[in-house]
Amino acid sequence: MASAFVIITRAPEGQRSVLTPGGQHNASRLVLIDHFDCNEGAGRQRLTFNLALTGASHKARVIPHFSQSARMSLLKEGAAFDLIHIDGDHSRRGALADALLAWQSLKSGGYMLFDDYQLPTMAQAPPSPSEPPSLFAYQPPPAVDHPAHPREGIDAFLSIVREEARVLHSGYQVLA
Ligand SMILES: C[S@@+](CC[C@H](N)C(=O)[O-])C[C@H]1O[C@@H](n2cnc3c(N)ncnc32)[C@H](O)[C@@H]1O
Repeated sequence: MASAFVIITRAPEGQRSVLTPGGQHNASRLVLIDHFDCNEGAGRQRLTFNLALTGASHKARVIPHFSQSARMSLLKEGAAFDLIHIDGDHSRRGALADALLAWQSLKSGGYMLFDDYQLPTMAQAPPSPSEPPSLFAYQPPPAVDHPAHPREGIDAFLSIVREEARVLHSGYQVLA
């Protein structure tokens, strides 16, 4: 049996997911990496709120850094995970870099879960004329083969590890 167990749920107020260290598995732990846009404000508060809802926030460790330096630190610690959820830098290059580093701290028989494999592109996203234009508004990538879309990074990773990993599900999320 896995030493860590993670449930994925959706927070009620939106699309943010909460990874919950499984309550019945006392040894389970959750490590979250997020740079919070280099700002410990709203994003961090929302995470703290969502974790409190799980009743298991004492099992969670938050690393408020960029993923690549955080993952290197975890590797140096010898940390090993049963499930790694990749949903940070959505660029092709970012998804690939995160996945390759994460792979090194995945336990044998563990799972990698990628988000946004089918991230809507500009052509698919519905127009939102009611929203005023904002300098910081998220702009979907124009196409799945655009550098800002994670799909080709995820595909490249899956190709690199094809002898060792099997794709179990491929939809908006990919589980391998
Ligand atoms: C789409 S959100 C998803 C967060 C979480 N999976 C959820 O569903 O609530 C992406 C998050 O990744 C963080 N992020 C983006 N690039 C990152 C990077 N290179 N290193 C660490 N965090 C990053 C952002 O600050 C943002 O909070």
